[in-house]
Amino acid sequence: MTLEILLNTIEMRRSNGGLNAPAPSDSQLHQVFRAALTAPEHKQLKPWQFVVLRAQGQQKLADFFTQALIAQGEQNPIVLERAQKQPFRAPLIITCILRYVEHEKVTLQEQRLSIGAAIENMLLVLTAQGFGSIWRTGPFINTPEVRAGFDLKEHDEICGFIYVATADKTLPPREPIQTADFVNDWH
Ligand SMILES: Cc1cc2nc3c(=O)[nH]c(=O)nc-3n(C[C@H](O)[C@H](O)[C@H](O)COP(=O)(O)O)c2cc1C
Repeated sequence: MTLEILLNTIEMRRSNGGLNAPAPSDSQLHQVFRAALTAPEHKQLKPWQFVVLRAQGQQKLADFFTQALIAQGEQNPIVLERAQKQPFRAPLIITCILRYVEHEKVTLQEQRLSIGAAIENMLLVLTAQGFGSIWRTGPFINTPEVRAGFDLKEHDEICGFIYVATADKTLPPREPIQTADFVNDWH
């Protein structure tokens, strides 16, 4: 039974960009972050930070995006206006930040992999809670302006903006999953 629920949740997870209120409550977010913090990682560094953006937080992100565009020389008001709107495509965003921890045995690559696992755990819990979500990076993610906005140090990285809320429509099921092309069996 547990296996069936787990497999169903994994297969049901679809990225969904049509997201409206309600977003998860604080107690639901607590479950999400607990799941993130159980992700496999090396030497218990937990080099992760999750920044929940709502309303004014989303406006800050919109301003960072716009500053990034202006720094690139963009002046077209339509393009700038689009950047202002981007973070409001859902009522809540979780910014997933790799806060690199220097360690003789744990490379930056390993730390990146572990935040990916943490993010997938979050997406699965959100799915099981009945919420829609989409992991986005987008063109501004690690621009100097956005990095400065989140106070990133040299080796830190933003690894995703997870847009979360109630999906306005159910997406069709996935195509049948064929594993054969991806799996080799050495024996
Ligand atoms: C690291 C990463 C970055 C992504 N960035 C974007 C993005 O900026 N915009 C977007 O529409 N999809 C992005 N995607 C893809 C979606 O999150 C999603 O995985 C994809 O649309 C496949 O849909 P599925 O999750 O339902 O299989 C990204 C995925 C990953 C793993």
